[in-house]
Amino acid sequence: MIDDKKVVFSGVQPSGNLTIGNYLGAIRNFSEFSDLYKCFYCVVDMHAITVRQVPAELRRRTYETLALYIACGLDPKKNTLYVQSHVPAHAELGWILNCYTMFGELSRMTQFKDKSAKHADNVNAGLFTYPTLMAADILLYQTDLVPVGVDQKQHLELARDIATRFNGVYGDTFVVPEPYMAKSGAKIASLAEPTKKMSKSDENTNAVVYILDSKDDILRKFKRAVTDSDTRVVFAEGKDGINNLMTIYSCFTGKTFDEIEREFDGKGYGDFKLAVGEACADGLAPVREEFARLMADKAYLEEVMKNGAAEASYYARKTLSKVKRKIGYTSL
Ligand code: TRP
Repeated sequence: MIDDKKVVFSGVQPSGNLTIGNYLGAIRNFSEFSDLYKCFYCVVDMHAITVRQVPAELRRRTYETLALYIACGLDPKKNTLYVQSHVPAHAELGWILNCYTMFGELSRMTQFKDKSAKHADNVNAGLFTYPTLMAADILLYQTDLVPVGVDQKQHLELARDIATRFNGVYGDTFVVPEPYMAKSGAKIASLAEPTKKMSKSDENTNAVVYILDSKDDILRKFKRAVTDSDTRVVFAEGKDGINNLMTIYSCFTGKTFDEIEREFDGKGYGDFKLAVGEACADGLAPVREEFARLMADKAYLEEVMKNGAAEASYYARKTLSKVKRKIGYTSL
C-alpha cells in the first residue's frame, strides 16, 4: 500500500505501435485507475534488448511510448511514468532474484521457447532470465495488482512463486502480486479474422488498426474488414465481424447496440463500415494530435521521465535495501 492505495504496476515494451484494441480495451480506462490505485507504468527498455535493437530506434520508441501513453490520457501527475533503465534498482534486484529462480522454472516459460525459436541466432542469457527481471519490476514496488494479458500470465505466476519462496526463507519481504483482469474495457478482434484477438504483431497490417494510423489508413482498413454474407447490421451469434465493428463503433460513439441497429436499419454494410471508420478516425484524432505535440516537446518528456524515475527510485530503494539486509549484504 502507498498512501492507503493498492499498488498497480505495469511494464510496457517500447514498441510504440499500440492498437485500438489496446486503447479501447485497456489504456483508455487506465486514467480512472489512478484515482483508486497508486500506479506505476514503466517503459521496459531493459527487457527490449533481449532481442537485437537498432539503438536510434530504441531511443525514439522509448520517447514515443511515453508520449503515446500520455496522449491516451495517462496523467504524469497522477501516475508514475518512467523508463526502466533510469532506475538501477531493477537491475540490482533482477540479479538477486536470479539466484532465487530455478533453471528448470525458466526453461518452462512458453515465451522463452517461442522467442528462442523466432530468434534462433540470438538465444542470449537475457532472453532466458527475462522473467526474473519482470519479477523484480513488480516486486520492487510491493505491487498488489498487475494488469496482464494472457501471454504474460505465466510470467506473473513465476513472480508470485519467487516472492513466496523468498518470503519463505527470509520472512515477509515482498507482497505477492495478483493478476488484474480488467472488468471494464472492450475486447476488440482482428478485422481480417474476427474470431481472433486484434494483435499488434499481426503480420497482416489490414487486420490491425494502430492508434497512430492516418485517417486514410483507418478508413481503408475498415472498408476491407471481413463481415458475413448477411446484410443486416445486427449484433448476433455467428456475426463475429459485424459484432466486432459494432463494438468498436459503440466504444467511439457511446451508442448502444440497439441504437446502432436502428441507425443502420435498411442500410448496407458499406455505409456502416464507412461510419465505423469515420468514428474511429475522429475518436483518435485528439490522441494523434497530442502525440505529435508531445513528440515535438522532448524537454517536457524528459522532465516526465526524470520526475518519474525519482519517484520510482524512492520506493524501489526501500524494497531493495530491505532485501539486501535480509540476504546478508553489508552496507556502508
Ligand atoms: N513482459 C511484458 C510484455 O512483454 C512487459 C513487462 C515487463 C511487464 N515487466 C513487466 C508487464 C511487469 C507487467 C509487469 O508485455
